[in-house]
Amino acid sequence: MPTAELSQRAPRPLAGGLKTDRLGGLLGTEAMPLDEALKRVRRQWRADTHVAAGSSVRGGADSLKREILEKVREYYVAAHQATPFAPFASRVPYAGRVYGESELTNLVDASLDFWLTLGPWGDRFEQTLRQRLGVRDVALVNSGSSANLVAVTALTSTQLEEPLRPGDEVITPAATFPTTLAPLLQNQLTPVLVDCEIGTYNIDPALVDAAVSEKTRAIMVPHTLGNPCDLEQLTIIAARHHLYLIEDSCDALGSCYDGRPVGTFGDLATISFYPAHHITMGEGGAVISNKARYGRIVRSVRDWGRDCWCAPGESNTCGRRFGWKLGDLPQGYDHKYSYSHIGYNLKPTDLQAAVGVAQLQRLDDFVNRRRANFNLLFNGLKPFEDGLILPRWDARAEPAWFGFPITVRDGVSRRALVQWLEDANIETRDVFAGRRCGFLAS
Ligand SMILES: Cc1ncc(COP(=O)(O)O)c(C=O)c1O
Repeated sequence: MPTAELSQRAPRPLAGGLKTDRLGGLLGTEAMPLDEALKRVRRQWRADTHVAAGSSVRGGADSLKREILEKVREYYVAAHQATPFAPFASRVPYAGRVYGESELTNLVDASLDFWLTLGPWGDRFEQTLRQRLGVRDVALVNSGSSANLVAVTALTSTQLEEPLRPGDEVITPAATFPTTLAPLLQNQLTPVLVDCEIGTYNIDPALVDAAVSEKTRAIMVPHTLGNPCDLEQLTIIAARHHLYLIEDSCDALGSCYDGRPVGTFGDLATISFYPAHHITMGEGGAVISNKARYGRIVRSVRDWGRDCWCAPGESNTCGRRFGWKLGDLPQGYDHKYSYSHIGYNLKPTDLQAAVGVAQLQRLDDFVNRRRANFNLLFNGLKPFEDGLILPRWDARAEPAWFGFPITVRDGVSRRALVQWLEDANIETRDVFAGRRCGFLAS
């Protein structure tokens, strides 16, 4: 990052900077922006010194905590362990949370710390996911819907050279989740709806290309039910017409395209951690930033629109809290309470993040099981293709399926099929905005 952006007290050559490309190559992931890394080291240091300073007094508290967590493990076994599946008797939910004792112990551990607001567990979660995806920044928010709102709003920031402006057109699919569409309207953008393909249920890139007009500034696409869109064509179209690309990866954590995780192709991408999703923290979501400056704008929009990037409880990370001249504000106006965006407060709590840290450890297992379930259903339903259209996916895609989409062919009653499945204790859902297709558990 250029030294000019570091707000250092000691003067440095403004064109200088820290080259992190080689480091990125060695680590196999993009280096975290320096200001974010410094902020986290500081926060961890504060958390550690807090523990160390109180450790003699806290000796009793620490052993009590260990005892409590041991009891929580026992409680998990007594109260939460899943009952074995009984064919035809057990309900087959279309999705649901799957958790073990570590989710419960992390949650209680975090609650005993009583940090409450996003803190050390949040840092750990963001950092682990960022490294796993190999992206510049991951910012936790309180839902996938909030993630979409923050991502779209961030692209309207006047700190960008070419922000989205009211009336700009954004191409998005007609079959979509409500809060993939809503942030476009909330930001006074004009959605241009194009159709999806039967079988993939993803936006048709040829229709996207045809829909580009002089007013088009962005493409916003969900990877429907975890099935990656044609990201090759979409990135080509976005580059050719200088459009922002936002990937709504809310249903697709763990899915890959051409060997790369989805969510790493667009300028920004979003994830949901609602219980039906690949991992959960109850309510939760994240915004992935794939370009240098976006992370700070995203965090500003998420955190009241503030200009300052101090973590909660910090007050002078930049070392110039009273040294900035910002816009029309008087010289030295308190940076901690300066606001440069029309923002929100969409942070989750540290308790949610603590559950997420445990869930993230299970992600590979969840993805493998979802794929195995999908294959079982796919092979089992293959003989019925004369009445059902089974899902298909791009040859370069490795979906981490969210569900199993089915479309009935002419002459087959969708309603009768849904009723039969529900009577057999198998839950179904409609694909959002879909008329004749639905999905099963995966
Ligand atoms: C594609 C898509 N985008 C956004 C969301 C919203 O996520 P959340 O329920 O966490 O608000 C969902 C929810 O399932 C979704 O499927």
